[in-house]
Amino acid sequence: MDIATRRMTADDLNALKGIDAAPTLNSTADRTADRIEGLASFLGQKAGAGLVAYALATDAMPELLLGYIIGFSVNQDAEIIDLVVRSDYRRQGIGRQLIKGFCDAFGDHVTYLEVARKNRPAYQLYLNMGFVEYGNRKAYYQTANGRDDAILMRKYGSISPDIKLKS
Ligand SMILES: CC(C)(COP(=O)(O)OP(=O)(O)OC[C@H]1O[C@@H](n2cnc3c(N)ncnc32)[C@H](O)[C@@H]1OP(=O)(O)O)[C@@H](O)C(=O)NCCC(=O)NCCS
Repeated sequence: MDIATRRMTADDLNALKGIDAAPTLNSTADRTADRIEGLASFLGQKAGAGLVAYALATDAMPELLLGYIIGFSVNQDAEIIDLVVRSDYRRQGIGRQLIKGFCDAFGDHVTYLEVARKNRPAYQLYLNMGFVEYGNRKAYYQTANGRDDAILMRKYGSISPDIKLKS
């Protein structure tokens, strides 16, 4: 399968409805409506930054949106707000490809994110990509199974800021 990653635009929003949301929100309907509205709002902001991964069209299949990553980027510091890969295409390196693309494009100094403590796939992925923990927000998320902590993580980019925070 050939996969292409490119900047997210408003034209991608409709296709994003077909992708499951992160597990830290409650109902599926809320997740879809809130998420698409939130993504549109991010994209409309000056600092909004996002990428989408597509499987290129073949004779057997039209172009298919596989996942997205979205966040902010200000002065080469970036923050990831959301990352989702289509459930039937997970564990094929797409999440890794989206994070690398995002950090390379937007996080020359530092990329920040937060992840639910119980979200082991995402936490493992970020560790695997070189993110390190630097904080914890207790009972920050409301999930279907009660509250969960947010782990704060960051990763330095290719251009070190003059004054580096200790990790
Ligand atoms: C988290 C998520 C984006 C991972 O996407 P993915 O395309 O499956 O990830 P990759 O295939 O690139 O995985 C890269 C590495 O991450 C880790 N990883 C990914 N999924 C994992 C899982 N289910 N269990 C353990 N480790 C996992 C592994 O280290 C993996 O490397 P390996 O396959 O060589 O062992 C995907 O599971 C997802 O969309 N989850 C729902 C939304 C979500 O929770 N988003 C995160 C919000 S903070």
